[in-house]
Amino acid sequence: MPSSLLSVRSAAIFLVLFSQCVSGKDCVCELNSLQRPFPMDQLDSIQTAADKCMKSISSAELMEMDILMLGVQRRLDQLEETVSVLEKEDDGNLYGAVSLRIIELELAEVLELMAKLKKTIELNKQLNESTATKLQNMTEGMTTLEAFDVSHVVIKQRENLRIKRDLVECQHELKATPPPPTPRPRRCPQGLLVNVTGPRTYSLTQYGTSYPYGAWGRDPKPAPGKEDMYWLVALTSSNAFANFVRHYSTLSTLLVGVGPVDTTIASSNPTTNTIIGPNVVQYGDALYYGCYNTPSVCRFNISARSITNTPLPQNSGFNNKFPFGHLDATYIYTDLDFSTDESGVWVVYTAPDNFGNVILSEIIEGSPPSLGRTWRTSLHKRTATNTFMACGVLYATRFLDKQTEEIFYSFDTETKEERYDLRIHIKKMQTNIQSLNYSPRDRMLYAYSDAYIVSYDGVFQ
Ligand SMILES: *[C@@H]1O[C@H](CO)[C@@H](O)[C@H](O)[C@H]1NC(C)=O
Ligand SMILES: *[C@@H]1O[C@H](CO)[C@@H](O)[C@H](O)[C@H]1NC(C)=O
Ligand SMILES: *[C@@H]1O[C@H](CO)[C@@H](O)[C@H](O)[C@H]1NC(C)=O
Ligand SMILES: *[C@@H]1O[C@H](CO)[C@@H](O)[C@H](O)[C@H]1NC(C)=O
Repeated sequence: MPSSLLSVRSAAIFLVLFSQCVSGKDCVCELNSLQRPFPMDQLDSIQTAADKCMKSISSAELMEMDILMLGVQRRLDQLEETVSVLEKEDDGNLYGAVSLRIIELELAEVLELMAKLKKTIELNKQLNESTATKLQNMTEGMTTLEAFDVSHVVIKQRENLRIKRDLVECQHELKATPPPPTPRPRRCPQGLLVNVTGPRTYSLTQYGTSYPYGAWGRDPKPAPGKEDMYWLVALTSSNAFANFVRHYSTLSTLLVGVGPVDTTIASSNPTTNTIIGPNVVQYGDALYYGCYNTPSVCRFNISARSITNTPLPQNSGFNNKFPFGHLDATYIYTDLDFSTDESGVWVVYTAPDNFGNVILSEIIEGSPPSLGRTWRTSLHKRTATNTFMACGVLYATRFLDKQTEEIFYSFDTETKEERYDLRIHIKKMQTNIQSLNYSPRDRMLYAYSDAYIVSYDGVFQ
């Protein structure tokens, strides 16, 4: 292939390309034919005329003419080849600008030859007049082609360059990681969660691998003298029920499993107002959890060892009606999910009248506790594996693969803005995360994962 015919070509000379970004996700290119196609027939007839001229003029007499005509013919052949390659390779690629440039150069060469030819014609008095007329005609034809070039090809070349640039930008946007959430003045000075690093700690509990369901963490509002304590609840019956909470004086005693103190909620397991489901939290020296066999929020006052509760709105799911999960697993009895953050305690649940989509309520610490403000989201609860709150923003995770859990969703209770485009990855140590909670004291995430307790650092903007 001649060097001027690059291997990458497209029919861009005949096409106008429109590119646009649609909501930053898809690149759409629309290819439309130009109204005026490149005048191939004109080229053909000029070539034919040139052929005739070649035959009609004596090479001896008109050597210079001959050479020039040969040059023109070769160039015209080349131009024709270039154009036909472009016609065939309508592959939608965007190398049109390159091809257009080649055609432009080829045309320029042809025109230069034509100009010389014209000069020779004028100088050669012996020139056959009819040949001169034909040459004149060819020159005019080439001028028309030049006009075509100037008014279309070059303009389109420029346009294609611009569109190419747009497309590069568009592709760049596609590849780029999603922009971090917009910062807003809020109660929490650290802003929104943008990444999760770690794990920082990863350990089995004293129970070994006996209990795959459970929860652990730190009390965001600890009682005096209990600041360093960590709590642990394992669902010790049927992966569903628990009747006591275990406390360790420090993180290291928890990790090595020494000196726990158990506080019993009820003597039997399960029974009225004992724990159902793994999504338990401790806040203000009290344990918040789903009440056994009842669509209610239970609170166990640890120091007073007393239980109070408050019902969820009518028809709210309980007893495994709306659990979390993914394609390969359902996290049983996760109808209610409790969370803590800078502002207090929250509960996530759902009901048929919200189509199984997540409902979020704040829990007012009164006596008894009650539900405060409530938000209805569009997040289908079964598509999430966990939720947690940080800084008044609800986050939801989903199962990507055995190694990765993804925080993909957020709902801001201040702005009511929902996002489904978060791509914050959590590196898992075990396949499933049965519970996940945020501690505003150390801005860490505490996960209970197939009997392992794992902690992560939250990275905020
Ligand atoms: C010019 O060429 C034509 C054929 O193209 C021929 O008929 C004519 O005789 C030629 N004239 C001269 C002066 O050679
Ligand atoms: C000039 O060329 C066109 C085709 O390009 C042809 O139709 C026309 O007859 C030609 N004129 C002369 C005088 O040769
Ligand atoms: C999140 O943290 C991980 C681990 O430190 C890092 O590899 C990754 O680049 C971070 N992602 C972003 C978007 O900052
Ligand atoms: C727990 O009980 C103690 C003693 O009755 C009381 O002072 C405290 O306010 C209670 N905590 C909650 C969260 O109700």
